[in-house]
Amino acid sequence: MNIPDLPDLPCYLNGDFTNLREAKVSVMDRGFIFGDGVYEVVPVYAGKPFRFAEHMARLDRSLGELRIVNPMSHDEWRGLVDRLVSAYAGKLGKTLAETDQLVYLQVTRGVAMRDHVMPAGITPTVFATSNKISPYSAAVRAEGVACVSADDFRWKKAHIKSVSLAGAVLSRQMSADVGAVETVMFRDGFLSEASSSNVWVVKNGTVMGAPKDNLVLEGIRYGLIEELCRTEGIPFELRRISRDEVFAAGELLLSSATKEVLPVTRLDGKPVGTGKPGPIYGKLYAGYQRAKLNS
Ligand code: PDD
Repeated sequence: MNIPDLPDLPCYLNGDFTNLREAKVSVMDRGFIFGDGVYEVVPVYAGKPFRFAEHMARLDRSLGELRIVNPMSHDEWRGLVDRLVSAYAGKLGKTLAETDQLVYLQVTRGVAMRDHVMPAGITPTVFATSNKISPYSAAVRAEGVACVSADDFRWKKAHIKSVSLAGAVLSRQMSADVGAVETVMFRDGFLSEASSSNVWVVKNGTVMGAPKDNLVLEGIRYGLIEELCRTEGIPFELRRISRDEVFAAGELLLSSATKEVLPVTRLDGKPVGTGKPGPIYGKLYAGYQRAKLNS
C-alpha cells in the first residue's frame, strides 16, 4: 500500500499519547464513514492556547448540534492540549515560550456498523494533534492576497464546525486552481464566508460581517474583531452584505486561526479598493498582535 510518510508529530487518540505514524482508528469510525464529527483548530502562542474558552464553547455548540455528548470536560481538554503542546515543543528542542503551534482537535460519534441512524451508547472517538503554525510573510501581508468568488453550494448548517468538509474542499480548490488564497462565497447574492475563513467588508470606514446564522461558521475571530474595532473606535456591524457591496468594498479582509486578519487586494482579478492593504487592516492587524501578546 502506498501511504505517504506522515511527519513524526505528537498526537492523542482515545486516551493514548502517541504519534501520527502510529495512531490508527477503525475503518467503521463514523467520522470516516459519514463525516459524522466535529473539530476545532486552536492557535497556540508562546505555548499558550489563544482564546481557548471560546474554542471550547464552540466545540460544545457543534457537538450539541450533532447530539454528541462532549466526552471530556473543558479542564480535561486543556490538560490534553497542554500536554500535546509540551510534547511538540520538546520534539523541536524548544521551550514552551519559544513555540507557536496549531492544535487540531476532533471528536467523532465513534465506531459502529454502518447505519444512518445515530447509534445509542457508543463512545466518541477523540483525536488531537499539534503542528507548527505557518504565518503569512510580511511580503504577502504588504501586498495582500488574491481571492475568487463563487456560489456557496454548501449545506445550510455551516455554523457547525463539522468534519464533513467536501463542500469546503471543492470551493477551496476553485481558488487553489488559479493560485488564489481563498474562495469568497455568496448565497442568493449575499456574502456568507470563504471556504475556511470569515470575510469582512470595509465600507465607508465601517467593518461589516455576515450575520451570525446557520449560513456561516462563527469564527473565534468574530468576537475578537468586534473587540478590536471597539478598542480602535471603528464602527462594526453584522448584516446581510450584497455581492455588489463586496466588489465595491474599500477593503476586504479574511480572518481565521491561521490567517489572523489578512487583506484581500484582488477579487476575481479586479483590484479591491486601492489594490493595496488599507488603514483599517493595519489597525486590526496591529491590535491582533497586541491581543496575542496579552493573552
Ligand atoms: N477554518 N469559516 C470557515 C468555514 C472555517 O473553516 C473557518 C476556520 C473560519 C474561521 O474560524 P476561526 O476564526 O475560528 O479560525 C470560518 C479552520 C482554520 C480550518 O478549517 O482549518
